[in-house]
Amino acid sequence: MEIVITDHPEQVVADIISAEIAAGATTLGLATGSSPVDTYKELVRRHKEEGLSFAGINAVMLDEYVGLPPDHPESYARFIREHFSDHVDIGEVYPPDGMAEDAQAAADAYDELIKEVGPVDVQILGIGSNGHIGFNEPSSSLSSRTRIKTLTAKTREDNARFFDSIDEVPRHVITQGLGTICDAKHAVLVATGEGKADAIAAAVEGPLSASCPGSILQWHPNATIVVDEAAASKLR
Ligand code: F6R
Repeated sequence: MEIVITDHPEQVVADIISAEIAAGATTLGLATGSSPVDTYKELVRRHKEEGLSFAGINAVMLDEYVGLPPDHPESYARFIREHFSDHVDIGEVYPPDGMAEDAQAAADAYDELIKEVGPVDVQILGIGSNGHIGFNEPSSSLSSRTRIKTLTAKTREDNARFFDSIDEVPRHVITQGLGTICDAKHAVLVATGEGKADAIAAAVEGPLSASCPGSILQWHPNATIVVDEAAASKLR
């Protein structure tokens, strides 16, 4: 596990992705939420101003809310289109189907799809204030595959800022499992701000444990944690 503490996490993550593409990456893994927004902005800038091309690259996503259609303003499929894929020359971006009648069958199918289009060369990750990656909430099996998860009250509170009220935050998601995430060849987690300091300390320096799902990255052979000073402030 490599830890990078920097004033410009988005530059470091964009540098990693650019280097992976230059080295022949063909599959990206995309996260949503606030943490990667500046990285997507920087990748779009490099595409428009510096000729960074995503031609020949496909992408899979980490997760999607159950019950939100892909054009819902808070669906993760729409987030990725608005922040990234509509602005670059990437091929397909495959979202999990949060509207499937049988959500678990859709989750199983998504895990298979990741195997087919993958392996993911570089997976972008954020981390929840409770240590989740993807939406693998604390106590998730370390070998889990893509499946339905119930969001904790803490995660629904954290994500209520994107909705008009907490009641509108979906209760369930389809998320890549920890085992699925760890199939990626390079996992790159970005976290900023004091609110992530406890989660980063637990993921990086705590025991490898399901109580902090992000700690699985200690076991991953190629994981990079990119944090600002505030998110790094509880590292010893
Ligand atoms: C989103 C995801 C989540 C977020 C995490 C942090 O696709 O998988 O793990 O990365 O909840 O969210 P933000 O960045 O909004 O603090």
